[in-house]
Amino acid sequence: MDFLTSLLCGFLLAMVFSVSNGDPLVPALCIFGDSVVDVGNNNNLSTLIKANFPPYGRDFVTHKPTGRFCNGKLATDFTAEYLGFTSYPPAYLNREARGKRVLTGVNFASAASGYYERTARLFRALTLKHQLKYYKLWQRKVVNLVGRTNATNIFSRGIHLISAGSSDFMQNYYINPLLNRVYSPDQFSDILMKSYSTFVQNLYDLGARRIGVTTLPPTGCLPAAITLFGRGTNECVAKLNKDAISFNKKLNRTSQKLKSKLPGIKLVVFDIYQPLFDLITKPAESGFFESRKACCGTGTLETSFLCNARSIGTCSNATNYVFWDGFHPSQSANEKLAQSLLEQGFDLIS
Ligand SMILES: *[C@@H]1O[C@H](CO)[C@@H](O)[C@H](O)[C@H]1NC(C)=O
Ligand SMILES: *[C@@H]1O[C@H](CO)[C@@H](O)[C@H](O)[C@H]1NC(C)=O
Ligand SMILES: *[C@@H]1O[C@H](CO)[C@@H](O)[C@H](O)[C@H]1NC(C)=O
Ligand SMILES: *[C@@H]1O[C@H](CO)[C@@H](O)[C@H](O)[C@H]1NC(C)=O
Repeated sequence: MDFLTSLLCGFLLAMVFSVSNGDPLVPALCIFGDSVVDVGNNNNLSTLIKANFPPYGRDFVTHKPTGRFCNGKLATDFTAEYLGFTSYPPAYLNREARGKRVLTGVNFASAASGYYERTARLFRALTLKHQLKYYKLWQRKVVNLVGRTNATNIFSRGIHLISAGSSDFMQNYYINPLLNRVYSPDQFSDILMKSYSTFVQNLYDLGARRIGVTTLPPTGCLPAAITLFGRGTNECVAKLNKDAISFNKKLNRTSQKLKSKLPGIKLVVFDIYQPLFDLITKPAESGFFESRKACCGTGTLETSFLCNARSIGTCSNATNYVFWDGFHPSQSANEKLAQSLLEQGFDLIS
C-alpha cells in the first residue's frame, strides 16, 4: 500500500470504529457465491469440494476447520469486523444459523458454485438460484422475528455481497471441451453476465439496495493455474489473466447498466484483481515472501481434499504466503484484500 492508501485506510477504519459505537454500520451482511466466501455450507452438501478438515482453519479464531477454504479468516470475515459486527454471518445450512442470530445476515455461498448454473451442478454445490431460494426463506424468518417494517429496513440497508465467476472459469470452462470448444471466453463471459444481471435484479426485487460484487482475481496467477496451464513455466498464465480482465470490464459495464435501470440501488464493483496482482508480483512490498507456491502441500495444486492433514510439504507458518492452497489466498493476504475492499466500498455504507 502506498502512503496515501494506508492513510485513507486508517482514516476509514478509525471512522468505522468511532461511528459504530458498538452498533454495526449496517444492519445485516448477506453473502452469496463460491469458495472464496463459503464459510461451511458445503459441509452439509454431498459434494467433494469441502474444506472442513485440517489443515484448513488452523489459524482461524477457533483453530478449527469450519469449511472456509483458508488457514484462517476470509476477506469477508475481515469485512464483517470492519463493519462493526461481533460475529461472522453464519453458513445458512449450519446449525448456528438459527433464531435471532440470523437477523444480522447469513452466508449462502457454496464452494464450486458460479454464475453458470451447470458449474454448481457439476460439483453438487448450491446454484445461485438455490442460494436465492434460501435467501427468500431467510427473509421470511426475519419478517417473523421483527415484523415487516423492520425487516424491510434490514433488507434495504443491509449489504449483499456476491463473489462468483472463478469456478466457472477454473473448474469448468478451461477444463470442459463442451464449453471451451463451443464458446470463446468472451461469449462465455456474456452468458455469465446474463446470470449476474438476473441475480442482481432478483435481489433488488426482494428489497435489496446495497449490493457489492467482486471481480475475478488474476486467475492466471493462482498456483494451481500456473501448474495446470503454465506449460512448465513459473509465470502467471497471460491468457487466463487477459480473460479475467476482459470479464471484469464486462462486469463493470453490466453493473453500470443495472445502476441506470434500478432506481435507488447502490451497486459497487469491488476490484480484487489489482490488489491481488500487486501482492503476487510485488510480495515484499507488503511483507510477503512467497507468492508462487501455496502453503498447503507442494503448494502447486492442492485444494479441497487434496490439501489435507497428510499432504507432504505444508508450510509451518502461512503468514508470509500470499496463497494458502492452490486456489485460495491466505488469511494474511485476505486481510490486505479486505482493506482494499473497505476503501472501495465507501458508497455502500454512506
Ligand atoms: C450440517 O453438518 C454438521 C456437521 O458437519 C451437522 O452437525 C449439522 O447438524 C448439519 N446441519 C444441518 C442443518 O443439516
Ligand atoms: C422495530 O423497530 C422499532 C424502531 O426501531 C423498535 O423499537 C422495535 O423494537 C422493533 N421491533 C422488533 C420486533 O424488533
Ligand atoms: C470500472 O469502471 C470505472 C470507471 O467507470 C473504473 O474507475 C474502474 O477502475 C473500473 N473497474 C474495473 C474493475 O474495471
Ligand atoms: C509466523 O510468522 C510471523 C511473521 O514472520 C510471526 O509474527 C508469527 O509469530 C509466526 N507464527 C507462528 C505460529 O510461528
